[in-house]
Amino acid sequence: MNYPVWNVPVIGGVWVIGIIAIVHMMVALFAVGGGLYLPMAEAKAMREGRESWMPVIKKHSRFFMILTNTLGAVTGVGIWFAIGLVQPEATSTLIHNFVFGWAMEWVFFIIELTSAAVYYYSWDRIPKELHLKVGWLYAIASFCTLVIINGILSFMLTPGQSWLDVAGTGQEASKFWMAFFNPTYFPSLVVRILVCVAFAGIYALLSISRMEDETFEKKGRIAMTRWSASWLLPIFTLMPIAFLWYFAMMPNFSKDLLQLGFSTIGSGAFTQVTRIALVSLFTTATIAGVVYFFAYKHPKEFSPGHAWSIVFLALAATGSTEYAREAIRKPYVIGGHMYSNSIRRNEIADFNTKGYLTSSMWVAKDSLDELAKGKLMFAGQCLSCHTETGYRSMKRLIGDRDAESVLSLLNSLHEAKSDNPYVKYMPPLVGKKDEIQALSLYLVHLTKAGKAGAETEEPAVAATAKTVKESPNPKAAPVNLNPGPAMIGMN
Ligand code: HEC
Repeated sequence: MNYPVWNVPVIGGVWVIGIIAIVHMMVALFAVGGGLYLPMAEAKAMREGRESWMPVIKKHSRFFMILTNTLGAVTGVGIWFAIGLVQPEATSTLIHNFVFGWAMEWVFFIIELTSAAVYYYSWDRIPKELHLKVGWLYAIASFCTLVIINGILSFMLTPGQSWLDVAGTGQEASKFWMAFFNPTYFPSLVVRILVCVAFAGIYALLSISRMEDETFEKKGRIAMTRWSASWLLPIFTLMPIAFLWYFAMMPNFSKDLLQLGFSTIGSGAFTQVTRIALVSLFTTATIAGVVYFFAYKHPKEFSPGHAWSIVFLALAATGSTEYAREAIRKPYVIGGHMYSNSIRRNEIADFNTKGYLTSSMWVAKDSLDELAKGKLMFAGQCLSCHTETGYRSMKRLIGDRDAESVLSLLNSLHEAKSDNPYVKYMPPLVGKKDEIQALSLYLVHLTKAGKAGAETEEPAVAATAKTVKESPNPKAAPVNLNPGPAMIGMN
């Protein structure tokens, strides 16, 4: 633990990132797809003399500019805020490797935000050809942001062997391009482009369905609805192929995880990812169906209600796909290198011999009692995926295990033998014997059933748990699991 731990009760830090990221993706994917849609629609309208389309495109560009320049930009910053607090170690690794990538990204962001505003405010004020060029400038800039961020996001799943070979040596940045164009870079880019194009169609349908204008009603609505619906066609045809490609390039640990989920669906240990992947599949298929039968086949009857239902389905699809994308990376935050709890694979041996807490920079080592030690072990190694009583609740998962079986579960996590199903989604537990013991004490303390069991079976544990329970201030030890902002960046 080189950084303080941010304990978010109930939803956990993962969902702070998750909620912001899902909203951000909804807008960011539209920012890229819509960026392409606007100049293409404008060019088509100019070429085919469809004057009635112009007010719709203009109105759409206003909605587009406001959404991307406010919600898109703010949630983008929000992601930085959240990952910096929840995953400081991984964020630091990413920045050290990709600082030049982000520098490029931000140049394109500035061009993107500026040209979106210029595009909207210069409607009917500058020559049409020039206006169209501004639209294309936007499209190119926003496409470049996708091309760059995709390198960094796909890196997190598959950093690639040449980067892994130098990871931890200080030479990581020398493999910038290898890490950037990593094994899942291209399939992931294709999937994202297809989703962007689909989002362009979805939001355009929303704008069109809300347009109340007589000339548009008579002359434009049907053709424009149908044309916009056709932006979703690649989803039907190309997406399955792109997904299979992505799946083929996925690392073995992710494939094992999916396999585990599928083989034990309904009863097994890791079925959320499988269920979520199915939700993503079904919502996408439903979107395709609604768009085809309503917008494409019967464009006349296509209403704002239809459009909104597609937007909400798209939200569900984005949410579940993002969740699945995050889940298949388990137990890693950077595939094959760093676990979700910030422990690097090459640090495990050291932590086991020297101790985990004793190697942590900011822990007040001497004055800790056993329970406080256990709580810190939990904060450092489990809290990145579990909460105490909320999301993936430790209390629920420990259930009515007694002290002995908790300890044996922890020991099996510690040994992390390759045939242990837990190692497919949980990092090995590191630390010395007494630290693991302290963690088990804390976990037992967390659950009522554990405490009852402890009293009969393990007097020592029960005694400590009781003292702490009865002490007027159970947090007497100088441990702060909820550091204020001032503690952030103490490293
Ligand atoms: C990389 C994320 C991750 C980390 C870190 C993690 N876990 Fe888990 N853990 C999971 C997932 C995913 C499950 C499956 C949850 C489910 O099936 O609902 C799980 C399940 C469990 C279960 C239930 C197992 C069972 O079969 O009943 C226990 C107990 C558990 N974790 C303890 C821990 C402890 C203790 C730590 C810290 C040392 C820890 N976990 C760290 C992801 C993680």
